Amino acid sequence: MSEMLWSEEFTDRSVRRSRHPDPDWAQACRLDPAVLRSLQKFQVGESGDGANLIARASSTGDPDYEVAVRLFVAEEQNHARMLAELLRAAGAPTIGAHWTDRVFIWSRRLMGLRLELMVLAIAEIVALRYYRALAEGGNDALLTDVSERILDDEQYHVPFQCRRLVVEFDSLPKRARRPVRHAWRLLALGVIVVVAFDHGPALRACGVTRRAFVTDTLALFDDAVASVFEGD
Ligand SMILES: [Fe+2]
Ligand SMILES: [Fe+2]
Repeated sequence: MSEMLWSEEFTDRSVRRSRHPDPDWAQACRLDPAVLRSLQKFQVGESGDGANLIARASSTGDPDYEVAVRLFVAEEQNHARMLAELLRAAGAPTIGAHWTDRVFIWSRRLMGLRLELMVLAIAEIVALRYYRALAEGGNDALLTDVSERILDDEQYHVPFQCRRLVVEFDSLPKRARRPVRHAWRLLALGVIVVVAFDHGPALRACGVTRRAFVTDTLALFDDAVASVFEGD
């Protein structure tokens, strides 16, 4: 099979990252208070240990996929670490779990790999639009640097989750595909609207309205879903 390995690109990326020095955390950093509060929540969201996902990946019996998932979790933990450094540079503490994060973790625990990846993909797509807003409108050099680094990873994570979902949906009966697709989109819309409200002031500070955030993120979601259900 000439298919690219699941872990291949993650391995390359981790080597590349190890050669690329960290941002200069000592530089002056001034963040809008709304952006700070928003980043504190995202920092918690990025910091999970991924134990559930790794357990499920290992139960697929595909060691290469398991390696990829472990490297994926390590990238997310690196996001949490960089955000914690960024908050420290801006003089703000990290916070404990936020309710949206607890709901997210708790709901994922109840799911199989397929559902977990569907929920995770929504979070990754939300992250794409969110970090782009910060990178483009955050108005601080350190924030821009960190956001661009995270964005670079998230741009790879979305296709990674989608590529696996194609495999996971392979066994889904034909007549179930449309309803699953619709339910997934409804869930995504709900999550995106909640994030747009919860993080509205931070997005606003970056020049993105709630409405634009919802529209853009939903468009990203629709592209991702189309790649998963290609040929339907
Ligand atoms: Fe992330
Ligand atoms: Fe991600």
